[in-house]
Amino acid sequence: MYVCICNAIKEEDVRLSAQNGAHKAREVFNAHGCKPECAKCTNCIRTIIKDHHCANQTCTTNLAAE
Ligand code: FES
Repeated sequence: MYVCICNAIKEEDVRLSAQNGAHKAREVFNAHGCKPECAKCTNCIRTIIKDHHCANQTCTTNLAAE
């Protein structure tokens, strides 16, 4: 499923970025060589990152901070 329509970033792409160490939406965009356009996806990206890290017990204290 696409989470970022503007940049064609899929949920699995976000999970892979999180697996590779991304803790912020900005890091996901950077990993894909793009920047947010409308930014409507950033909350969803943050949630996927948080879920990934919490499920893997690598939660950080402030995932929402950009
Ligand atoms: S949907 Fe991600 S920047 Fe627009």
